[in-house]
Amino acid sequence: MGKEEEDAWVVMKTARAPSNIAVIKYWGKRDEKLILPINSSISVTLDPEHLSATTTVAASPAFERDRLWLNGKEVSVEGERYRNCLREMRARATDVVIESSGKVITKEVWSTLHIHIASENNFPTAAGLASSAAGFACLVYSLAQLMNVKEKYEGELTAIARLGSGSACRSLYGGFVKWNMGQEADGKDSIATQLAEQSHWEDLVIIIAVVSSRQKETSSTSGMQESVKTSPLLKYRAEEMVPKRIGQMEKAIKSMDFAEFARITCADSNQFHATCLDTSPPIFYLNDSSRRLIGLVERWNRHAGEPQVAYTFDAGPNAVMFAKNKEVAVQLLKRLLYQFPPSAEADLSRYVLGDQSVLKSAG
Ligand code: ADP
Ligand code: DP6
Ligand code: CO
Repeated sequence: MGKEEEDAWVVMKTARAPSNIAVIKYWGKRDEKLILPINSSISVTLDPEHLSATTTVAASPAFERDRLWLNGKEVSVEGERYRNCLREMRARATDVVIESSGKVITKEVWSTLHIHIASENNFPTAAGLASSAAGFACLVYSLAQLMNVKEKYEGELTAIARLGSGSACRSLYGGFVKWNMGQEADGKDSIATQLAEQSHWEDLVIIIAVVSSRQKETSSTSGMQESVKTSPLLKYRAEEMVPKRIGQMEKAIKSMDFAEFARITCADSNQFHATCLDTSPPIFYLNDSSRRLIGLVERWNRHAGEPQVAYTFDAGPNAVMFAKNKEVAVQLLKRLLYQFPPSAEADLSRYVLGDQSVLKSAG
């Protein structure tokens, strides 16, 4: 076989991974390189139909270097996070047989092959809806398919996704997921585990209000670095508050106690944004629409006597809300559409029901 023919093959895999929203937030690292957090966190995986990354990975001897296209535009793959994920996946590659020719790509061959990656998000990138979580979970998962990587221990792939973006480790499982902060220096025990499947809590409805699709000014990575350096409240939160809340939240999820779930979710979101404000210089992720949404939910819950809706905001102004059940969700959508009619002015362009059905309003 001539060199040209030998170089002619390409293997390819495509995968999709959902985003997730933390109900107990991760904010702050104890190790920047390995992305080890200062506290454990808990999240809910979102519906991939509306919030996911789709990634195609390809390998061929004809590729001269690793390359990455994000939402159709080539971006550098030289960053440490992409490099770390690729290195760890290559190290775990096993034999893959190319069906058409019967040729075997061995571990040794994998270590010499370059990878082309094309990834697309079906929701705003870097706007506080955890695109880094969907993106890196999807990268690791699609590479595992391409390179035939089998986990040696449960959660091994989540630890590799974590090297791309902390929140990404939680996107490899559906339903309710916990990221254990772990103790080990090498991060082997800083992995995600599933607390409960999505079907466990069928009544719960997730609604996302896209307040702004604009890219945030302060990335999560640099925002949390600043908070670790300057916020006394963050230390108190990570050491005193979160450990208690993790236990309470696990219990609330297990017993489907909506009142408790809502209380902790809102309190933790508010405390996270308080640590942002406590950072010097202060970081503002919420905007006027976010604050009005908080007011709407708080008034409703107080009026009802017990929580009907919970809200949470990541590092951005976009709201993720949990309704107690379908009836409450319909009420919530009505109120949202009335109070925040989608318009260029309000920039509240999209409501997404987190379960199977969607309501997309014009805008
Ligand atoms: P977000 O709130 O959306 O997670 P971050 O600041 O945490 O915002 O991360 C955004 C960064 O994550 C992007 O600039 C990009 O580097 C990376 N990212 C986002 N989507 C993808 C993707 N689909 N594939 C690979 N990397 C991605
Ligand atoms: C507010 O995982 O995006 O969304 O690990 O530096 O990539 P890096 O940060 P990232 O931070 C997420 C912060 C958060 C809370 C959370 O998802 O737990
Ligand atoms: Co992120």
